[in-house]
Amino acid sequence: MYAALTWQSLPTLETPLLLLDEQTMQRNIVRMQTRMNSLGVAFRPHVKTSKCPEVARRQLAAGATGITVSTLKEAEEFFGQGFNDILYAVAMVPNKLEHALQLLRAGLHLTLLVESVAAAEMLSQHGRANGVCYEVLIEVDTDGHRSGIEPADPLLLQVASTLQNDGKQGARFKGVLTHAGSSYDLRTPEALVAMAEQERSLCVLAAENLRAAGYPCEVVSIGSTPTALSATSLPGVTEVRAGVYVFFDLVMAGVGICSKEDIALSVLCTVIGHRPANGWIITDGGWMAMSRDRGTQKQEHDFGYGMVCDVAGKVIPELAFTQANQEHGVLQWDGQAQTNIAQKFPIGSQLRIVPNHACATGAQHQRYVVLPAVGNELQVWERFGGW
Ligand SMILES: Cc1ncc(COP(=O)(O)O)c(C=O)c1O
Repeated sequence: MYAALTWQSLPTLETPLLLLDEQTMQRNIVRMQTRMNSLGVAFRPHVKTSKCPEVARRQLAAGATGITVSTLKEAEEFFGQGFNDILYAVAMVPNKLEHALQLLRAGLHLTLLVESVAAAEMLSQHGRANGVCYEVLIEVDTDGHRSGIEPADPLLLQVASTLQNDGKQGARFKGVLTHAGSSYDLRTPEALVAMAEQERSLCVLAAENLRAAGYPCEVVSIGSTPTALSATSLPGVTEVRAGVYVFFDLVMAGVGICSKEDIALSVLCTVIGHRPANGWIITDGGWMAMSRDRGTQKQEHDFGYGMVCDVAGKVIPELAFTQANQEHGVLQWDGQAQTNIAQKFPIGSQLRIVPNHACATGAQHQRYVVLPAVGNELQVWERFGGW
């Protein structure tokens, strides 16, 4: 279906489809890796954004060390593609233990996460019962955003002491992890630099408290895209994680951490109708293609369901993506009233919609149609979903 296609083939392709601009993505990869290199830390990209081995291979080729995943399905898929150093950065629960065990036994170097005594106990017991040793990080809360244990909370030491093994079997405490997700709500470089330092210093403090209590803490893993790109120095940190930077999106542009030209992802859709009296252009790109994510709603510029561009990627400021049904997108014309919108955007013509949230929009699709960095021939990279 997608064999031997070129840029010129776009009008013949069935829409909606997910377009990936390889050159822009590559620039984002190099920008992040260069920054991590200059800060002297290892970089472990979060592949939940792309769920695509082709993308992750480029992140490793640029210098990343291992990957981060948000599901064991991702761990399994990437391991199947030859990735062998994987951090599952969501707290473990009993019904996922068998899956983790299976991956470990198959040879995957898997690191797990806990934030409770109950989970630590469960991992230690399961490891002992099955003759394996789980390597485990403890999640630290550095911004009150979501999960994790505060650095000074005695629970931190309790969880570490519960991670037990007899040298071979059980669970091994390996380090601490935090994610300053509240950085998404910030808007100024000063606030982002301060949040990056808060994320770093509190996670390092947690590591120091653990070491002082006799628990060696080799990993100090921090990161989100806004903090990773704002940190000015990272003493005490061993690795940084970031995900959405690889494609960027409108939310990240609203945070001020990238420009709109840095966004590598868009959805190609086709005009299927008009309501001139309302100034509406109707496309086949509804929320099923974009996701329901309205992440820019609380930002300075609300882009509705996405930013409307022409097929070459040039923004059309007069069109706002105001409504989305499952398979219909409604674009509101806000330009000159006398413009004949049906003539300007005829049935069958194509538009590109830049997403609010790259991870959410990507998750709606099975593949990327890649606009290549070199040459004219489109490529198709498969991505996966589910759990
Ligand atoms: C634990 C963890 N680490 C890293 C990330 C990456 O964050 P970002 O996509 O902002 O780079 C996330 C994102 O949700 C996360 O949950």
